[in-house]
Amino acid sequence: MSKTLTLTDNDTGRSAELPVLEPTYGTPVVDISGVPREIGCFTHDPGYGATSACRSWVTYIDGDQGILLYRGYPIEQLAEKSSFLEVCYLLIYGELPGAAEWVEFEADIRKHTMVHEGLRTIITGYRRGSHPMAMMVGLVGALSGFYHDALDVNDPAHRLACIHRLVAKMPTIAADTHKWGAGQPFMHPDNSYGFVENFMRMMFGVPAEPFEVDPVAARALELMMILHADHEQNASTSTVRLCGSSGTNPYAAIAAGIATLWGPAHGGANEAVVQMLSEIGGRGDIPKFIDRVKDRESGVRLMGFGHRVYKSYDPRASIIRNACHDLLSKLEGTEREQPMFESALELERIARSDDYFIERNLYPNVDFYSGIILSALGFPLNMFTVIFAVARTVGWITQWNEMLGDTEDFRIGRPRQLYLGHARRDYVPAEERS
Ligand code: ACO
Repeated sequence: MSKTLTLTDNDTGRSAELPVLEPTYGTPVVDISGVPREIGCFTHDPGYGATSACRSWVTYIDGDQGILLYRGYPIEQLAEKSSFLEVCYLLIYGELPGAAEWVEFEADIRKHTMVHEGLRTIITGYRRGSHPMAMMVGLVGALSGFYHDALDVNDPAHRLACIHRLVAKMPTIAADTHKWGAGQPFMHPDNSYGFVENFMRMMFGVPAEPFEVDPVAARALELMMILHADHEQNASTSTVRLCGSSGTNPYAAIAAGIATLWGPAHGGANEAVVQMLSEIGGRGDIPKFIDRVKDRESGVRLMGFGHRVYKSYDPRASIIRNACHDLLSKLEGTEREQPMFESALELERIARSDDYFIERNLYPNVDFYSGIILSALGFPLNMFTVIFAVARTVGWITQWNEMLGDTEDFRIGRPRQLYLGHARRDYVPAEERS
C-alpha cells in the first residue's frame, strides 16, 4: 500500500492526505501539490532546501555518504574508465552507447563543431577585457538567432538537434571568448582531433604552428569535464528548467543557466578559490585567514568549502585532489601551482580539524582543487567557470529535455510567495506627499 502523510490545520480542522513518493534511492518525497486546495495554505521553503521540484532519472547524489551517480553509474568509475563524450551520450540517452550508436553520435557531434561566422562578429563587439562568462551568456543566447530551423521545443527531433548543436559548439564558443581577450585569431575546429583535444587546440593553438596535444593534460581536462557534466537540481540546472518551462528555446534557457553558474556561490567558486589562495599568502598565514572566516562580521567564506547537499566529502573533490597530485608531478611548468596545491592541502587540514567546520559539516567541494588543475593546464583564471559551463551544458540540456518529455509532471514553473508588503492604500498625488 502506498504511504501517505496527514497534514492537519489545528485551527480549522481541515486536513489533507498527502501521497509519499518513494525514490529509487534517498529521502522520500511528500507530494504537497494538494495542500492549497485541501487546507488553504501554501508551503514556504526559501532556497528550496526541502523541496523536490521535479521527477528525474538522470543523476543521484547522496550527500551524507558522498555518492554521485550519473544514470546509475558511480562517478569514480566514469572518471577512471569513460570519456567526456561517452558521458554526454550516457546522460542524454540514459544508457552507455553500443558500437553503432557511438559511431553515429560521434559523427553527429563532429558535424556541429563549427560556429556561424556571424557569432564571431558578435564577439568582436565585446570590449577586449570583457569577462569570458559575460561573452558566454550573450553568445549562447544568440545561438537561437541562427537555428530557426529546429526550435520547436515540442518536437523531440528538434530538441535532439539542439542538444547536439550545444554540446558540439560550446568548446568552440568558449575558446573564441578566450581568443578575443588574448588578441589572437579564432581557431576553427579540426575534427581529426578528439573532442577534448580539439577544445585544447582551439584554446591554446595558433594558426601559425602545428598543435601538439599533451596526453597527460588532455586526460586531466577530460576528467574535469566528466566530473562537471551534471549535478542534479543545483541552482543553474533549476534555472534552466524554470526558464525552459515557459517553452522558450534551449539556447535562451542555457544562457540563463550560464548566468546562474557565474555567481561565486556556484560555479564562480573555482575562480574565487585560486584568488583566495593567492591572497592568503604563505602557509603560515592560513590560521589567521581561518580566524577571519570564523568571524561572522568579516563576511569572508572559505571558498570551495561547503555544499547544500554534501554534508561529507564531495566525491568529485577527492578525485580532483588525487588528480592534482598526479598531474603536478607529471606536467612541466607547474611551479606556480605546486605551492598553491600545498596551501590548499594545508587549508583543508586546518579547516577539517577546526570545530567550526566540523560542526557544520563543511568539506571541500568540487571547486576547491579544480582551479589548481585548470591553472596547471594553462587556463587563465577568468576561463575557469567557462570550462565548468562547457562541461555542464550536457547536464543542463539533458535535464531540460527530460522536463519537456515528462508529459505527466511538466507545468510552467511558478513559485508562490509570502507577501509581507503594505496593505492596500490609495495613491497620493506628488504635491500632497510629505
Ligand atoms: N565558509 C565559512 N562558513 C560557511 C561556508 C564557507 N564556505 N559555507 C557554509 N558556511 C556556514 C554558514 O555560515 C552557516 O553557518 P551558521 O549555521 O552558523 O549560520 C552554515 O555553514 C550553513 O551554511 P549555508 O550558507 O546555510 O549553507 P547553504 O547550503 O545555503 O550554502 C554554499 C551552500 C553556497 C555552497 C556555501 O557553503 C558557500 O557559500 N560555500 C562557498 C562557495 C562555494 O564553494 N561554492 C561552490 C559550491 S559547489 C558548486 O556550486 C559547484
